[in-house]
Parts: sequence; C-alpha cells; structure tokens
Amino acid sequence: RVIDWDIETATKEGYPHFMIKEIHESPKAVKDTIEGFISEIDLIKEVADEIKNANRIIVIGAGTSYHAGLYFSLQLQRLGYTSIPIIASEYYNLKAKKGDIALAISQSGETIDVLQGIRKMKNEGAKIISLTNVIESAIARESDYKLYMKAGPEIGVAATKTFTTQLASLLFLTEVLQGGNINKLEKLHQEIRDTITKVEGITKRIGEKLSKKANIYYLGRGLSLPLAMEGALKIKEIAYVHAEAYPAGESKHGPISLVEKGFPVVIINDGELTDLLQNNLMEMKARGAEIYTVSVNKKMKDSDIEIYLESEFPAIVISPVIQLIAYYASVSKGYDPDKPRNLAKTVTVE
Ligand code: G6P
Repeated sequence: RVIDWDIETATKEGYPHFMIKEIHESPKAVKDTIEGFISEIDLIKEVADEIKNANRIIVIGAGTSYHAGLYFSLQLQRLGYTSIPIIASEYYNLKAKKGDIALAISQSGETIDVLQGIRKMKNEGAKIISLTNVIESAIARESDYKLYMKAGPEIGVAATKTFTTQLASLLFLTEVLQGGNINKLEKLHQEIRDTITKVEGITKRIGEKLSKKANIYYLGRGLSLPLAMEGALKIKEIAYVHAEAYPAGESKHGPISLVEKGFPVVIINDGELTDLLQNNLMEMKARGAEIYTVSVNKKMKDSDIEIYLESEFPAIVISPVIQLIAYYASVSKGYDPDKPRNLAKTVTVE
C-alpha cells in the first residue's frame, strides 16, 4: 500500500517546478512542525525519557531520511549516548535487544526497508519511535511512539522541505534531551526564509558550474558530513552528476588521487571544524581543484565561490543551500527535477 499525495490536485502556484516551490515552503513546514512539537511537548518529553533510559538508540532510515538520522545519531553520540545509525536496507546486520530504542525516520512512512527493519527490531525486543510526515502511515502504525512532521505534501521526488523539517524535529528533540530552551527554535523558519532569499542567485551560479562537471566531491567533517552526503545525493539524483561525499580528513586516503585541475570540490563547513577543513581545502586547491564552500559562522579562505551564512543552527540553513545548488544544476541541464529518471518518491520493494 502506497500513500502518495494527490499529484492531480497539487499545483505549482506559479513556480516552474514542485521542487523549487517546496524549497520555498520549507519555512512554513518547519514553523508548523515546531509548533506541532510544542503543542505535543508531553509526548516529546516521554520520547526523550525513553532515549535517556535506553541502552542503545538505533536510528534507521533510507535515502535523505538516513542522512537526517545520521545527523541525529552523531548528535546523540556527542551527548554520550550509544547510538547506531543504520541504512534501512542493511537492517539485517543489527541485532536489537530489550532495552534498545529504534528511531525510524521516513517522510512517507511507507519505505519497505524501514518497515522491515523496525519489524525485526520490535521482534527482538526494541521499542520503536517513528518520525514521519504522513498520519497513520505504515511505519507510524507499527511504532510505540509516533512523531509527526507537518511539512505538508511533497510532490517532488527529491526530498527538500521534508529533510529540513526532519532536521528541525531532531534538533527539537536534542534540545529537550539537554533540557535546553525550545523557544529559540521558533525563529528557525525566519532564518530559512532569509537564507533562501540571500542565496538564490549564488546557488544558481554554483549549480550551473557544477552541472558541467562529470564528478564532484562533497566534503564535510563532524555534523557537516551528513549534510555533505545529502548535498551529493541531491545533485546525483536530479542533475545526474556523479557526486561523492567523503569525510574531509579521510579524503587524503584515496579520493584526492582523482583531483586535478578543475575538479570541483564542495566543502560544507558548519563552523565547528573550520581550521581542519581549511587544511583539506588547501590540499585540494594545491592539486588544482575548483573550490566551493558553504560556511556558517566562520568563513574559509581561498575558495572560488563561498556562500557564507550565520545561524545558531547551521544544519537548518545549509539544507536549503545544497538543495538549491542541485535544483539549479538540474534545470540548467534542461532536466525536470520533479521526476528524476529511475527514481520513485516512495520505495515499497526490497
Ligand atoms: C526514495 C526517495 C528519496 C527518499 C527515500 C526515503 O528513494 O526518492 O527522496 O529520501 O525514498 O523515503 P522516506 O519516505 O522513507 O523518507
């Protein structure tokens, strides 16, 4: 059973594609979701308590949702929790136990690999939390705790506003886990709106340049690695450019051998590990790489084009930037980003 939003009744409201419309809907999606979480604060606190008391927190998802999950899992690891991120289709590698919690992240709530994964873990004794965008989706129905994003329908095959919304939901959960101030998340939507306005022109320029390339590296470190992974996935999905994400430090152990004059490298810098990323930038630059940086709070030096933003929540503002770059790469090649070849919005086969 596949629930898909009704594409017939959805309209582009003046935008050339659903994808760009949906990127522009990200502020509203995040606002509605944060408000929803605030109104369900008791449930969120219960979920946070389950996480605090769990032996291990297993985070499972596919595609873009996996990247949001990886981001959260790294956050949990930093906070001292034992968290294991798993790609849904590889669920058989993990044996859950009583005392474990599994968090399933899925926009559609229908992805079969995620569903199979949570069924296995439930059988093995884990409790299941889900974060989906569809009320009573299959994954939600099989969960002990159901969290919902309020991103609204997403027609474009490539996830956009739902990824940003997943990140916002998970940041909310992280704040609650730390006993932080959730009210500061109420301004996220404004930051996203300002970012989109600011970067529309420059992302178009970068997208056009990248669209002419055969290969791209996306490098990140720490919490910017899952965002680099998402940036690479997005441009691969809709612009059909081969892009590979790598932990920036690890790029010395192999990937750098491909770098020669004109090889494009996109560096995602969330401001935490700028000096280390700067070293990696110089290593790439010394081999002739063309460098594009997306930096938050701390600028980098010597990139060919830098997008610089400021935010207390770097992931939230980086997300629309990597999506816009991919979007403009796709349209500049004349492709329809809403309907990438060979891909489906919801994958219900293993
Ligand atoms: C498909 C879509 C991706 C999506 C993935 C997971 O591959 O094309 O955009 O990220 O499924 O979907 P889900 O609904 O579980 O988030």
